[in-house]
Amino acid sequence: MKKLLWIIFAFFAIGVGLYPTLFIFQDMSQGLLGSKSEALRAGIWNTAFYLHIFLGGVSLLTGWSQFSSRLRKARLNLHRTLGKIYVAAVFISGLAGLYIAFFAEGGLVAKFGFGFLAAGWLTTTSLAFWTIRSRKIEEHQRWMIRSYALTFAAVTLRIYLPIFDIFTDMQFLESYRIIAWLCWVPNLTLAEWYIRDKLSLKSAVV
Ligand code: HEM
Repeated sequence: MKKLLWIIFAFFAIGVGLYPTLFIFQDMSQGLLGSKSEALRAGIWNTAFYLHIFLGGVSLLTGWSQFSSRLRKARLNLHRTLGKIYVAAVFISGLAGLYIAFFAEGGLVAKFGFGFLAAGWLTTTSLAFWTIRSRKIEEHQRWMIRSYALTFAAVTLRIYLPIFDIFTDMQFLESYRIIAWLCWVPNLTLAEWYIRDKLSLKSAVV
C-alpha cells in the first residue's frame, strides 16, 4: 500500500513537473495564454509566467524523492544538492507566481486564492531553509512537508479541473474560483494532519 502511494505520488510529481515543457514543443495559445491580452503578453507578465512555470516544474521534479528516508540516508549529498535547487526554484517561481496571481482569471476570489498560495509557498519554503541552516532537522522536515504540499497544488489543480468540467455544470470561471482555493487548502490540512498524527507518533516511538 505504501509502495503504491509512493508510485502514485512520484507519477503525478513527474507528470505535472514535465507538463511545462509542452509550452516549448506545442502551440499552447488556445489555453490560458489565449485569454491574456497582447499587452500583458508583451510585458513583464510574459517573463514572470515562463519563469513561474519552468521553475515550478523544477520544484515538482526535485522535491518528491527528498521524502524518501532511504535515499536521504544513502545519498546525503544528493539530498543537499536537490534541496538547494528546490529552494531556489520555489523562490523564483513563487515570486513570479505571486506577480501573475494579480492577473489571474476569475476575479478577486481567484487572485486571492493564488496570491495566498504563493505567499504560503514562499513562507513555508523559507522556513524549511532557515531551520536546516540552524540544524533543526525535525522542524526542517515539518516545513518541507508543508512546502511540498503547496507545490502539489499544481497537481491537484490539474486533477480538479477535469473533474469539475465533467461532473458539474459550472462555467469554467466559476469552478476556477473554487479550485484556486481547493487546490491547496486541503493539501495543507492533510500535511498538518500528517505532521501532528504520524510524525509526532514516529518521534515518540524513536
Ligand atoms: C504553489 C504555488 C503556485 C502558485 C501560487 C501558482 C500560481 C499560478 C497562477 C496565478 C497562474 C496563472 C493563472 C491565470 O492567469 O489564470 C499559474 C499558471 C500556471 N502554473 Fe502555477 N502556481 C503554483 C505552482 C505551480 C507549479 C509547482 C507548477 C509546475 C508545473 C506550475 C505550473 C503552472 C502552469 C503550467 C501554468 C499555466 C496554466 C496552464 O496552462 O495550465 N505552477 N500558476
